[in-house]
Amino acid sequence: MKTIDELIAEGVTGKRVFVRADLNVPLSGTTITDDGRIRAVQPTVEKLVAAGARVVVASHLGRPKGAPDPAFSLAPAAARLGELIGTDVAFATDTVGESARATVAALGDGEVAVIENLRFNPGETSEDDAERGAFADQLAELADLYVGDGFGAVHRKHASVFDLPARLPHAAGDLIATEVGVLKKLTENVERPYAVVLGGSKVSDKLGVIDHLLERADRILIGGGMAYTFLKAQGHEVGSSLLQEDQIPAVLEYLERAEDKGVEFVLPVDVVVSAQFPDLKAKAPTEHRTVPADAIPAGFIGLDNGPETNTLYASKLADAATVFWNGPMGVFEHPDYAEGTRAVAQALVDSSGFSVVGGGDSAAAVRTLGFDENAFGHISTGGGASLEYLEGKTLPGLAALED
Ligand code: 3PG
Repeated sequence: MKTIDELIAEGVTGKRVFVRADLNVPLSGTTITDDGRIRAVQPTVEKLVAAGARVVVASHLGRPKGAPDPAFSLAPAAARLGELIGTDVAFATDTVGESARATVAALGDGEVAVIENLRFNPGETSEDDAERGAFADQLAELADLYVGDGFGAVHRKHASVFDLPARLPHAAGDLIATEVGVLKKLTENVERPYAVVLGGSKVSDKLGVIDHLLERADRILIGGGMAYTFLKAQGHEVGSSLLQEDQIPAVLEYLERAEDKGVEFVLPVDVVVSAQFPDLKAKAPTEHRTVPADAIPAGFIGLDNGPETNTLYASKLADAATVFWNGPMGVFEHPDYAEGTRAVAQALVDSSGFSVVGGGDSAAAVRTLGFDENAFGHISTGGGASLEYLEGKTLPGLAALED
């Protein structure tokens, strides 16, 4: 993989450089609630600016349906990028149309433009190679060189991620280089004990990574909505908690394999339940209580790990030399159900081991709960991407930068 420094050394002054970033930031209306992903691509943009390139930043945001949708505009992200780099950032209101062509043509050396959400064009995510290729051809007309730096999207075989680098001389940006360097540490010669904390809502999203980790990790701690499928598989009633019944056979197989391999599988021992899912906008106090994980009353929903679980998980993380964490432990967006997620974050901060927080939700959780990012070994910008990397899959956006 060519580095951005090598590309710059070959000469980028006056050249149009397409930077595929991941500016898929959480928004409340047009307000960015966590700008971590924008800050993560800042060094790459600044290096190119300093080298006199004409920088064209592109990204997806959310999952619009292949047509313009103002709710998914990248305009707020473009404005924030401008604030961060301390210079005006031009904004094109389309992807490959008149606005994009004119905005890019107007760029001077060392200037930056952001083009509108790539997913406003159906070619970006198309499964049809020709349709994707046609969009990539149009994008290629906007640039002379390509820098891949949208780590969060490298697991997507999308036009701007996979097809475009094949059409332009390309290099990996600093964010991708850092992310891959860290994830390599977790797959090659990992320092032990190696503990993994997995949360989030669906077991089905984590099957591949659990399968892979059963061969590598020493401890796997489960939380979040997915924990209830594990508890049910162990024969406990889970009330109205999130449940993926169809995953129970897979979960049982994992629990057996873990035992055979001596991998410690740790499940919540108590949980915070409520009769209702909380209103995440109002965040008003709710009625809730803590119950043993094997005694969730009928009609109640498990929404967070309980205090005994928090203490147990902290003890399992205290002596770990390496920790990978993906997925919140509960509905952290509501203050009544944030403690489990906060406790895991705190355990990582307190541990002297190398900790990696993987993923959009857990990374945003850490920041919204007020933790200092520098207290963690690494906060990845990619949720799905880091999980697929750990599964050992070939990631299209990395493969495309290889040759
Ligand atoms: C993410 O949020 O994980 C990345 O931006 C990828 O987004 P996607 O899952 O919509 O492709």
